[in-house]
Parts: sequence; C-alpha cells; structure tokens
Amino acid sequence: MKGIFPIDKFRQIQTPFYFYNTELLRETLKNINTEANKYNYHIHYAVKANANPRILSIIREQGLGADCVSGGEIQAALNAGFPSEKIVFAGVGKADWEINLGLDKNIFCFNAESIPELEVINELATAKGKIARVALRINPEVNAHTHHHITTGLKENKFGINLDQLDKVLDCLETLASVQLIGIHFHIGSQLTDLEPFQALCNRVIEIQQQLAKRKITVEHINFGGGLGIDYDHPNRNSIPDFKEYFEVFHKHFPVLPNQQVHFEPGRSIVGQCGSLISKVLYVKEGSVKKFVVLDAGFTELIRPAFYEAYHKIENISSEEPQETYDVVGPICESSDCFAKQIDLNKTHRGDFVAIRSAGAYGEIMASQYNCRQLPQSYFSDLL
Ligand code: LLP
Repeated sequence: MKGIFPIDKFRQIQTPFYFYNTELLRETLKNINTEANKYNYHIHYAVKANANPRILSIIREQGLGADCVSGGEIQAALNAGFPSEKIVFAGVGKADWEINLGLDKNIFCFNAESIPELEVINELATAKGKIARVALRINPEVNAHTHHHITTGLKENKFGINLDQLDKVLDCLETLASVQLIGIHFHIGSQLTDLEPFQALCNRVIEIQQQLAKRKITVEHINFGGGLGIDYDHPNRNSIPDFKEYFEVFHKHFPVLPNQQVHFEPGRSIVGQCGSLISKVLYVKEGSVKKFVVLDAGFTELIRPAFYEAYHKIENISSEEPQETYDVVGPICESSDCFAKQIDLNKTHRGDFVAIRSAGAYGEIMASQYNCRQLPQSYFSDLL
C-alpha cells in the first residue's frame, strides 16, 4: 500500500511532518453521517483529537458540531466556522475566562462535573444576565476495559459526578437560577474496540433516567461521549471504523424518549486513520545486540508510544528490500523516545521515508517543543 503516499512530493518537504489523507477523512465523515442520520443522532467532533485548522474545517463542512475542552478549543472551533449553537464545552477544570467565553458566544451547552463548578457557572451567567444551558457529566461507573491512562468512567477517576452524589447535585441545581439543566453526559474511555461497555453504558443511563424521573426530571439531551476505537494493526484494511455496528448498539439498547436528542463526541474514530507521521531515516545504527533505525521524528511529534506504550504500524515507504528487524527510535535525549522495538521493516537506509500510521488522532495536537524542536508542519493529499 505504498501507493497511498506521494513519495516524489515528499522529497521536496522538510521532514518530519504530518500527512493527512483528506479523501479518507471525507469518506469517514460521510460514513458516520449516514449511520448517525439513520437514528437522528447528533455528532460533535472531539476537537482534542486533532485541531488542525484544515481538518476542523473539513469536519465542519460535513455539518458536525464540536466538543471542546478548553477556551482555546472553543476559539479553534469558532475560527473553523463551527456554529456556536453546535459547540459543547466539557472539562473537569474550566477556568472563569473559559466559562465567560462560552457564555459570551452562547454555546449550546456546558458539560458540568461538580457542584463548585455549577456554582461558578451560575455566578458568571448571573453577572451577564444569561441562563447557562448545562448537562451533568455523570460518572457511570462502567468499566471500559481500555488502557488505564484513557479509562474515565470508573469511580476513582477524576471525571464526572459520582452516582451516589447525583441527588446532592440535583438539590443544588434547584437553587441556581441562572443554570438550566438540559441534559446528561457520559464518557467511559477511549480506544474501545469491544462494544459491550457501550451496551452497559446504555443500561446505566436508563437507570439514571429512572432516578431522575422520580424527581420529575426528564432531560432533553443524552450525550454518550466518544470512545470508539480504531484498528491500529490494520490501517489499510480497516481504514473506516464500523460506525454502523457502533450506533446499532445504542439504537438497540437505549430507547429514546419523545422529544429527546442523542449526542456523541467521537474524536479518534473520525481522524485517527487519515493521518500519518512522515519521517526520514537519519541513521541505521548497528548496536551490539540489535539494529536501530534512528528517525528525525521523536516523541515530540508523536508521544503516544512513549506515553501510553501505544502501538502504531510503521512502514518503510522507500524500500522494497527484504525485511530486517529493528528498534525504531527518535532523536530526543530520553530512552523512552522509542516508537517500536524489534519490528520488521524492509531493509532500511539513511534517507528512507518512514510512515507511522494511524497518527491522525492525538498526534499533531500532542506535539511539543521539547529539546527546542519545531512543531511539525502538516500537508494534505488533495493539496500536494
Ligand atoms: N468526550 C470526552 C468527554 C472525552 O474525554 C474524550 C476523550 C472524547 C469525547 C473523545 O474520545 P475518542 O472518541 O477520541 O476516544 N490522548 C489519548 C486519548 C485521550 C482521550 C481523552 N478523552 C490517546 O492518545 O490515546
């Protein structure tokens, strides 16, 4: 599948850089829209996965809303043309200026996580003579069976309102005149490849609704968050996640009440497969026990392997020679700057291009300038 990369064009570009397959992104968006529209589900793209301005505008063109977790993300979404009434704002620590920005821009909803946060939203909304629309982020205590760094729906996680605190929060809400409860929000974790936890989430949300009904509360909006995983092993074979199967789980296990809207916040599943980090081989270093491919990209460009021990498929897109076994490392002065150990690559030489696949989500956006390195540039298949 080397054909998907225009290597001749790459020769004219300074590496490392992100290369985005915009045709795949558009196809993925078409697919998620088709599947979500079957049930009238609303999709807010999780901006945290990739806030590249061009990626954001392609996503906005397809009519999705935006799920933001900071004032910076709200600004990025607005700059890309997302209408403010399609912006939701989540996060366990919203600063006053960020809440004020959301209020000033009249965003659709704040996903609130605690009593002190609700009190601050109320105070800031009162000062502006506004009513803030709020959804409670509830910790559903559903185990997502994913990496411990990216599981969020357990009791011990910092996120959301614990179930045993819900009544207290609802009591508090009754005293807050400038906050209007419009929904409930959940997110159980990321990179879920088994759909069973989503079914468990549906069952939990039904129970929570029953608890709310006892207080004569029906919420208009249910937000199931994000979390659908992608196939890091087979980026070519499974380039578009199975959105059909995913939404079917919710359709089957969560009966929507009259006048109720269901929302999702996918990030990785939309942008993950369309991005690759393209790097050049600086050296092939023969150690005494193994051979190292030293790239000009490091964890400054893609931190997931170092941070989460995440696997990304690596391909030498310049070489057709028989495979050899290498450790693939970056130039950063830390031993954790390693992309993969003992993997097979076509025989590799200085100057070869290497593609680190499935890097469209949580890649470019998590880049840093550690070691005084420059942030990576981005290029797009339809503009090269
Ligand atoms: N909604 C909320 C409230 C979230 O916390 C997240 C992700 C999403 C939606 C989007 O989830 P997704 O569909 O992308 O799974 N940096 C990590 C992933 C962190 C995910 C944080 N929350 C990684 O590189 O794997």
